[in-house]
Amino acid sequence: MARASDIDKAAGVLRAGDLVAFPTETVYGLGANAEDSAAVARVFQVKGRPPSHPLIVHIGDAQQLNDWAEDVPATARLLAERFWPGPLTLVLRRGRRVPLEATGGLETVAVRVPGHPVALALLSAFGGGIAAPSANRFGSVSPTTADHVRAELGDTVDFVLDGGPCEVGVESTIVDATSATPSVLRPGGVTREDLQAILGCPLAVHSTSRVRVPGQHPSHYAPRARLVLVEPEKVVAEAELAQERGRQVGVFLPPAFAGAAVKAHAVVAVPASMAAYARGLYGFLRELDQRGCDLILASLPTEEGLGLAIANRLRRAAGPRPAE
Ligand code: TXA
Ligand code: MG
Repeated sequence: MARASDIDKAAGVLRAGDLVAFPTETVYGLGANAEDSAAVARVFQVKGRPPSHPLIVHIGDAQQLNDWAEDVPATARLLAERFWPGPLTLVLRRGRRVPLEATGGLETVAVRVPGHPVALALLSAFGGGIAAPSANRFGSVSPTTADHVRAELGDTVDFVLDGGPCEVGVESTIVDATSATPSVLRPGGVTREDLQAILGCPLAVHSTSRVRVPGQHPSHYAPRARLVLVEPEKVVAEAELAQERGRQVGVFLPPAFAGAAVKAHAVVAVPASMAAYARGLYGFLRELDQRGCDLILASLPTEEGLGLAIANRLRRAAGPRPAE
């Protein structure tokens, strides 16, 4: 776990224009000084991410919002007050402090206050904003432990702050708060139901982001093994069939079938609690990759609460790959 001296060292690394991987309550981020265009450019390079794909600016508290965004609507302030620190990202009009490199050239900026003590200590020691995407190679599974970060990025990151495993396990919910009627651009750690309860009105979910990146493939959050979605009651039979055909099958066994005998290379028992499922999701995908699976069979949970974000990530992980 990160000590005070690690926090100071990480803040110094950011000030020097270098990169720090740090824990948040959702996933680990790959951070750079948000106001340093060259450092931000290196984030894209290390991740292998197209420069038009914008980053999230992490800040220490909601009072700093006016430094980073302009014309912040009252609804955005309400959401910030209720959910920060926490797994909510607000898309707002870009403040002048934010370089265009961080927003992929957009006039809007994504901002959040993360709900992790180590991230907040780092933000406080550093003093500025930290631009950070998830600390994985572009398109692959987000890291939820410091070991995942090291496995993804190795020596290309200058310092890794270890804050233990992430509590939430899926990324933040992104809300477009630029207009009077906010909408969800990416479901995540704050549920649509919780947002609606505060806003007092239904909230549309645009599960494919409005930010269209030319040439971007739908596959994202993807393990090396091919991921195929099947109906829960067919998982056991489909696994057996594929295994007989010579595939190395990994199975996400739905809670309703817990304890069933499955002929497969590796089996992960999906937790019945959505919070536990979200926390474990990316670790399960990595585990099945590590155990040598070439095919993963999973089914979608009910799309309520955190189930909406889990289903979104599974669909994206099952999306067509560049080579296909
Ligand atoms: O939980 C999280 O959000 C994690 C932790 C590290 O904070 N971060 C994360 O970042 O997931 P990343 O870069 O992997 O995903 C950020 C998403 C991207 O899909 C990007 O398109 C979207 O945020 N985004 C960023 N700025 C945006 C903007 N101005 N308008 C619309 N979408 C934006
Ligand atoms: Mg990401």
